[in-house]
Amino acid sequence: MSSSNFITFPKDFLWGAATSSFQIEGSPLADGAVESDWYRWTHTPGKIAQGDNADIACDHYHRVKEDVAMMKKLGLKTYRFSISWSRVMPQRGVLNEKALDFYRALIEELNQAGIQPFATLYHWEIPVWAEGGWENRETVFAFEEYAKAVFKRLGSLSAYWVTINEPLVIACCGYMWGWFPMGKTDANAYGQVAHHLNLAQALATRAFRDLQLKGQIGPAMAMSTFDPFSQNPRDIVHADRLDAIHNRAYLDPMVDKGYPQQFLDFAGKLQGPIEKDLKLMAQPVDFVGVNHYFRNTCRYKKGANILDNENFLAPGSRCSDLDWEVRPESFSDILFYVWDRYKFKSVFVTENGMATRMSKRGLEGTMEDDVRIHFLGTYMTAAQKAMQRGVPLKGYFVWSLMDNFEWTMGYDPCFGLIAVDPKTQERRWKKSAYWYQGVIEKNGIDLNELPLEPDYQLSPAAEAKVSA
Ligand code: FCB
Repeated sequence: MSSSNFITFPKDFLWGAATSSFQIEGSPLADGAVESDWYRWTHTPGKIAQGDNADIACDHYHRVKEDVAMMKKLGLKTYRFSISWSRVMPQRGVLNEKALDFYRALIEELNQAGIQPFATLYHWEIPVWAEGGWENRETVFAFEEYAKAVFKRLGSLSAYWVTINEPLVIACCGYMWGWFPMGKTDANAYGQVAHHLNLAQALATRAFRDLQLKGQIGPAMAMSTFDPFSQNPRDIVHADRLDAIHNRAYLDPMVDKGYPQQFLDFAGKLQGPIEKDLKLMAQPVDFVGVNHYFRNTCRYKKGANILDNENFLAPGSRCSDLDWEVRPESFSDILFYVWDRYKFKSVFVTENGMATRMSKRGLEGTMEDDVRIHFLGTYMTAAQKAMQRGVPLKGYFVWSLMDNFEWTMGYDPCFGLIAVDPKTQERRWKKSAYWYQGVIEKNGIDLNELPLEPDYQLSPAAEAKVSA
């Protein structure tokens, strides 16, 4: 397979797809599970678009065998999924055997299919008994207990473990923008939650080491570049501040650099033995996972919002149907950033993908998704460029294996390689699924096969809130 337009990946490159428990499993209260913050949020009127909820989702809870068979057919080398805390620990300190059996069966099924499990301990649903969510320091210690319990029971069955999915998004969307539980809009709460998540991540890593498990462990970070809107020093300083608040506030403590000053200035006084916590946070990890969707172009505008920021999207920019900018170079840049700055031993792309909206494209446009093939092909090429720049990238997970419950946006945005009929639960392969099957099989991408005229949404001039 050597045409000048064929790019290849290393022999052991782990091609994968990702999901999370709340988004695909359904039956959130089955077999002794307890309500989670997200369960309650989805049952609070007005919180989720179209009034959707995740009570059925993809019904994966009842379809493990069928879904793993589908992954095998796709050729996945690895599958990233999450374990639901509110299933496994219905009360603090109490384990739910049925929930553990469910995840054990999933992992065993994957192992039998020759698919490397990549298990995430926590992808956003907190049991309701953890009062106050991540603002409460006790939640950190409850999480440590949960991590220990899961590692004792399932730790040796999976070679890869992710501690926490996207601490940034939990803190930002739940405590700074108010979109997710706990619905707060407060800089101090944001800082406190970021601090607690950093500590929780470290304590889970320590628990893993204490048990002398042989696998690898690391977090999955939501990461993107914060580019200045202009070369005006005001925008440059502003973009650096946003980078500190969103990226470095989570990564610096992991490598014993403490917190960036701009983060501390933004958050105000943090509660707790901060110095002692910072020492604990410097726990070496085996890899860092990068979840990446779009870059940010930041323009300083006093009073625009809590961050004094206006995000700029140039008129006519390529976007997904969610108005997320499509710019593969930024993907390469953020992968380079995370390695260049922190020198983590390995890096995984733990999520990358794009949404098409069912309401915009209908079923046919959803299934004939050339635009997704173009997106994935160009982003994978950018990931390969990052490897040429030295990034020790070991694998890449498409978000997502199948269309699922996209949090506050419900089922309208479709991120999957595979569509799920909401009535029959039938799984249908999109064009992109067949394309990805070929990528995995050939361990590379034929750039000549990428669609020539991808049907991206373009940002309208009216949406560019900046005067020339
Ligand atoms: C990430 C989440 C994932 C999914 C994608 C689109 O922030 O980790 O669950 O919602 O975005």
